[in-house]
Amino acid sequence: MYNMLLFVFLATAVAARRSPGADYVENWLKEDGNNRYSSNIIEDALLDAPSLIEKYGYPVEIHKLITPDYYILEIHRIPHGRDQNNESDPTRPVVLAMHGLISSSADFITQGPNVSLGYILAESGYDVWLANARGNYYSRANLYLDPDDRRNQDFWRFSWDEIGNIDIPTIVDYILELTGHSKLHYIGHSQGCTSFFVLNSLRPEYNEKFISFQGLAPAAFFVYNEVPFNKVISPYEAVTQLASEKLGFSEILGNRAAFTWFATRYCKEGDIFHDLCVYLLMDGDIDYFNTTLSPVFLGHMPAGSSIRQVNHYAQCVNIKEFRRYDHHRPILNIETYDRPVAPLYNLSQVTAPVYLHYSFGDVTTDYRDVLHLAERLPNVAGMHLIQRSTFSHRDYLWATDAKVQVYNKLIQLMREAEANAK
Ligand SMILES: *[C@@H]1O[C@H](CO)[C@@H](O)[C@H](O)[C@H]1NC(C)=O
Ligand SMILES: *[C@@H]1O[C@H](CO)[C@@H](O)[C@H](O)[C@H]1NC(C)=O
Ligand SMILES: *[C@@H]1O[C@H](CO)[C@@H](O)[C@H](O)[C@H]1NC(C)=O
Ligand SMILES: *[C@@H]1O[C@H](CO)[C@@H](O)[C@H](O)[C@H]1NC(C)=O
Repeated sequence: MYNMLLFVFLATAVAARRSPGADYVENWLKEDGNNRYSSNIIEDALLDAPSLIEKYGYPVEIHKLITPDYYILEIHRIPHGRDQNNESDPTRPVVLAMHGLISSSADFITQGPNVSLGYILAESGYDVWLANARGNYYSRANLYLDPDDRRNQDFWRFSWDEIGNIDIPTIVDYILELTGHSKLHYIGHSQGCTSFFVLNSLRPEYNEKFISFQGLAPAAFFVYNEVPFNKVISPYEAVTQLASEKLGFSEILGNRAAFTWFATRYCKEGDIFHDLCVYLLMDGDIDYFNTTLSPVFLGHMPAGSSIRQVNHYAQCVNIKEFRRYDHHRPILNIETYDRPVAPLYNLSQVTAPVYLHYSFGDVTTDYRDVLHLAERLPNVAGMHLIQRSTFSHRDYLWATDAKVQVYNKLIQLMREAEANAK
C-alpha cells in the first residue's frame, strides 16, 4: 500500500479529477484495433463496479444513501447468483462487504466470476452488498460540502472513525430496513475491519445486528508492525495533516481516471511499465498473482480516501494503541470527546461473533497484531490462520488462490454462525 502511496501521491494531488486521458482511452477503445492483448482487460479497467458486474451477467443494483452528516454513499448490490441460486429470494441471508483504505466495492469483483468474493457469495446463495465509504470514487459527494473546494476542506475532515461511527450504521440500517432482515453478516478487509470495531465499540447496540463479523486482515493494532515506511513516516503525521489541510490537498489518490488512463496504456502485458505496475500492486508471492490483470487492479484501486484516514493509522502506529483520532489540540479534543486526550476504543464492547482471518505473510496486518487484537475481543468465535504462509494483505482480494485459501472457509464459518444464531 505505502509504496504505491509514495509513488503516486504527488501525481494525484495536482491532477484534475477526470483526466483528458480517460476520454482518449475511451475513444481509442471505440476505434478498436489497438487492443493488442485483451480488450476485456482494458474494458474491465475502465468500467465502474456496477457496469463490471452487469458485464459478467450478474444482477446489480445501485443504492444511494445519505448519512446524518449529509454524505452521499453509493453502495452496490448483487441480489442473487447467475449460475446457481439465480432467482431472487427475500429469505437469502444478507452479507455486507466493506473495502479497505483507498479502495472501493470493486475490490470484491475485479478478478471476475468464480474467483472474486462478491460473485462467489452470490453463487453461494447470499444477498450481497458491497459498501463504499465516504470520500472514495463512488461516495465522493455531500449535500452541502464540496470535495473539490481547495480553500474549504471540510468535506475531507473525517477518518475511519466517521466511516465506522456514521457510514456503516447508516448502511446497515438501510439494508436491514429494505430487506426486512434483522441481522446480516459483515465482511471487512483491513480498514473495513477497523471501522467495524469503531462502530461496535462506540455504538454497542449495533452488535446484535450482526450474524457474524468476518475480518480479513483485521487491522486495529500496529504494535508489532515492522514495515519501515510506517515507522519513518508516522511520527510526522501531525505535520502532514496540517500541511494537507492548509494547502487544500486532504484527498489522497482520488483521481481514478488518471490511474485508469495509466493502467490501460502502460500496464498491460508487454507494455513498458508492466513490471512497474506489477511491482506496485503485488505485495506477496508472484506465483499467486495474475499479472495479466494488473491494468484491472490499478484501474480500480486506488479509489481515494481522506489523508486523515492514513494519519489516524499513523497515530495508532505511534502510540501502539487503538485510539480515536487525536485532533492535536486539547481544545479540539475537548470539543469532540469532552476530554483533552483522545480516548481509546473500548474493544470489550464488541460482542458480536468475531471470526478473524490472518496470515503469516501479511506484513501490513501482522499476525502478532491480530493475536493481540483477539486477546482484547470478548467474543472471538473463530480464528482462521491462512495455510499458505506467503499469503499477503492484498491476496485476500487479488490472489488467484483466494477462494481455496480463504473464501471456502469463510463461507463455511458464515453458515456455522447462521446455525448458531438460530
Ligand atoms: C439458474 O440455476 C439453475 C440451477 O443451477 C440452472 O439450471 C439454470 O441454467 C440457471 N439459469 C440461468 C439463466 O443461468
Ligand atoms: C466456475 O466454477 C464452476 C464450478 O465451481 C465451473 O463449473 C466453471 O467451469 C467455472 N467457470 C469458469 C469460467 O472458470
Ligand atoms: C489471469 O487472468 C486472465 C484474464 O482474465 C485469465 O484469462 C487467466 O486465465 C488468468 N490466469 C490465472 C493463472 O488465473
Ligand atoms: C469498556 O467496556 C466494558 C464492558 O462494557 C466496561 O466494563 C469497561 O468499564 C469499559 N472500559 C472503559 C475504559 O470505559
